[in-house]
Amino acid sequence: MSKPIALAADHGGFELKEAVKQHLTELGLEFVDFGTHNTDSVDYPDMAVPACDAVVKGECRCALLFCGTGVGISISANKIHGIRACCCSDAFSAEYTRRHNDANALCLGGRVVGAGLACTLVDLFLNTEFEGGRHQRRVDKITALENR
Ligand code: RB5
Repeated sequence: MSKPIALAADHGGFELKEAVKQHLTELGLEFVDFGTHNTDSVDYPDMAVPACDAVVKGECRCALLFCGTGVGISISANKIHGIRACCCSDAFSAEYTRRHNDANALCLGGRVVGAGLACTLVDLFLNTEFEGGRHQRRVDKITALENR
């Protein structure tokens, strides 16, 4: 049984998170929703932390994070040791950030991508394996930067 997926959003990403939640439910995939739960203004770094912590602790397999652009919450997530977050709005990046970067957080902008594209990006992210090999060496160097 696969671990659940961690979800988190600020107010700018709330509606897209809800759409992706529906998609995950239709696929029968389990998730933990760390909020936000409405469109009241909140600060995206606060929303990133509990979802990313759940990934780092091994409680969730990965995080799907949402804000207005996807950028602020990705910058926040990438400050957390053990998180490799990718903000993207195209299919190639969603696939290759898994293949080459072993990304464990996908960040999407609720004011950038529509629900249909977001679900396609989520599917690519969830269904693509890390290739390892030379890419493992590079990911190890990213990890080493955390202790610089
Ligand atoms: C909130 O207005 C907005 O700044 C936030 O959702 C995000 O786009 C930041 O990167």
